[in-house]
Amino acid sequence: ARLVVLVSGSGTNLQALLDACAEESYGATVVAVGSDREGIEGLARAERAGVPTFTRRVADFETRDGWDRALTTVVERFEPDLVVLAGFMKLVSEDFLAKFPTVNTHPALCPSFPGMHGPRDALEHGVKVTGATLFFVDGGVDTGPIIAQRAVEVLDGDDVESLHERIKGVERAMLVDAVGRLARDGWTVEGRHVRLGGAQL
Ligand code: GRF
Repeated sequence: ARLVVLVSGSGTNLQALLDACAEESYGATVVAVGSDREGIEGLARAERAGVPTFTRRVADFETRDGWDRALTTVVERFEPDLVVLAGFMKLVSEDFLAKFPTVNTHPALCPSFPGMHGPRDALEHGVKVTGATLFFVDGGVDTGPIIAQRAVEVLDGDDVESLHERIKGVERAMLVDAVGRLARDGWTVEGRHVRLGGAQL
């Protein structure tokens, strides 16, 4: 399966996918990595792995629509079977989603704590368990059909950073496992349920 991965930051989730894709049996290849900002570690990771990169910055377009279209056009060029948002800090358009099945990873247990601050919001709420979620993007904010989830305990003395780092450890493993299974076995989405090779994830 051909993966296009979109990133906005450090790209540790991307790195986990790049490492997994190095094994032929994994069943997927990262064919391109895109970003909405320049000079980030995520792009450097792709370059080191010899994967083509592209950047489309919202500020370089007159309208958000123009940016949406430019992003869709460049992603289309790489003919992905699946687009993976791995710490990509922009919402993609409905047209984008109509063209490419797209998954996103979120550092909380959806539907709890959607949005930009999953670890902070979980900590502020005082939950004792949070985690990471992989889901199909559906146009809402962290609302789509859930593919996989992993739980993480909140420990006494956690701050946002320590909690997020622990979440990211399980998030990477979850992403690699679930994307590999999607790539190898395919999937169907029935209502809110994701089915893969006849088995529900
Ligand atoms: C991940 O926790 C992702 O879910 C969140 O931002 C983090 C990105 O980390 N939205 P990285 O860039 O993959 O290191």
